Amino acid sequence: MAKVHTSYVCQQCGFISAQNLGRCPECGAWGSLVETIEQKSSAISRQSSAGKKVLKDVQLVNLRDVERTDYARISTNIREFDRVLGGGVVLGSVMLIAGDPGIGKSTLLSQLAINIPKTLYVAGEESAHQIKLRIDRLKKDADLAILNEVDVDVIIEVIRQVKPPLVIIDSIQTMETQDLESAAGAVGQVKETAHRLQRAAKSLHIPIFIVGHVTKEGTVAGPRTLEHMVDVVLNLEGDPSSGFRILRGIKNRFGPTDEIGVFEMEDYGLKEVTNPSKLFLDQKVNAPGSAVVVTVNGARALLVEIQALVSKSFLPIPRRTGSGIDNNRLQLLVAVISKRLSLPLFDQDIFVNVTGGMKLTEPAVDLGVCMAIISSLKDRSIVSQAAFVGEVGLLGELRNVRQLDKRLSEAKKLGFTQLISSESVKSLGEAVNKGLTAKEK
Ligand code: TYD
Ligand code: MG
Repeated sequence: MAKVHTSYVCQQCGFISAQNLGRCPECGAWGSLVETIEQKSSAISRQSSAGKKVLKDVQLVNLRDVERTDYARISTNIREFDRVLGGGVVLGSVMLIAGDPGIGKSTLLSQLAINIPKTLYVAGEESAHQIKLRIDRLKKDADLAILNEVDVDVIIEVIRQVKPPLVIIDSIQTMETQDLESAAGAVGQVKETAHRLQRAAKSLHIPIFIVGHVTKEGTVAGPRTLEHMVDVVLNLEGDPSSGFRILRGIKNRFGPTDEIGVFEMEDYGLKEVTNPSKLFLDQKVNAPGSAVVVTVNGARALLVEIQALVSKSFLPIPRRTGSGIDNNRLQLLVAVISKRLSLPLFDQDIFVNVTGGMKLTEPAVDLGVCMAIISSLKDRSIVSQAAFVGEVGLLGELRNVRQLDKRLSEAKKLGFTQLISSESVKSLGEAVNKGLTAKEK
């Protein structure tokens, strides 16, 4: 017999408690715990007379008996998308696409739906009219079925009967099941509906894309727990003011995780960018404060410009603001520059920006960040045709980075003949001597 459990789930972070609490001990949010019904069925059916537990319907499989199968994939016909997925959509997989509202998730998935005929587009947020408007905007005649429904059990029944090649759920925050009392969007609902979709995808062998909105805190709203449940997590990110959109693989059970796809938002949808380095550097001017780095994402090296502005501060605590790079890393690099090169940064505001809305997470971009800051501080530009690669240590030393050859060849391709890295210089000080032009008179 299935046991019915109720527990209290934090709507902010997914923390589960046996009793109701005024404040979540995990994330500290007040009044965020909501009662949720959990269905738990056990594989242990009864106890034998000898007191031993008896298992039913449980089978052990020897790994040797498991057949080796290659995952069957279907192509999205969008090269950058396929690249991030690791070669296409795996049948029966569940993929979460997360991103800020308005970043282009529905647009990207509509384009996908156009490419794969007979796709089922489940619209919980928009009416069929709105979707039609978008598809018209993409200037395509599309063969897709739209289902305006939020009840996940109804949706799964439709999937079972129609058997579409691909399903898009837009978005998980609007989905609900009648079995729970909480409203759509609550953590319990999001988890349960995603779980049911996951089971349907696996049993019917149909791939499902799930759209998930991201909260202000930057986590997939409520369903942080959802990330563990799905096979693939993709983030669609970018600076809304710039046209660039980056599709980043965060988790992938069937492919690489650090791969990115680059798109540009145009009037007729998202366009693939086949040579991103060139586009990122398109508007670069050679002025003090600008440095080029080579970063590796998955199988591809990319050249990106980092800009820094260092100016006299009139605040008691000067500002250090980074966009596109981690703020803590920026603080650390500023401390290394101040200490190891004895440069007076203590009374300077420092702003660092990665152009094109790209987010850089690799330590290999450290040297470029430092060079941009020093270049702005000294008002001396970087020598022409130079790009930087290197992790900066706390002692001001340069540490090796992976895949230097790949970076070198991408830099050369775009005319950056001087790659300043841990191979050519050993410390930050040396890099400054080699990488900065002489003071302009
Ligand atoms: P949308 O896909 O609706 O965002 P999300 O589903 O992530 O919330 O995209 C919304 C934005 O994209 C909107 O501001 C309009 C813009 N857009 C274009 O610039 N070109 C287009 O062809 C389309 C369809 C949308
Ligand atoms: Mg949308």
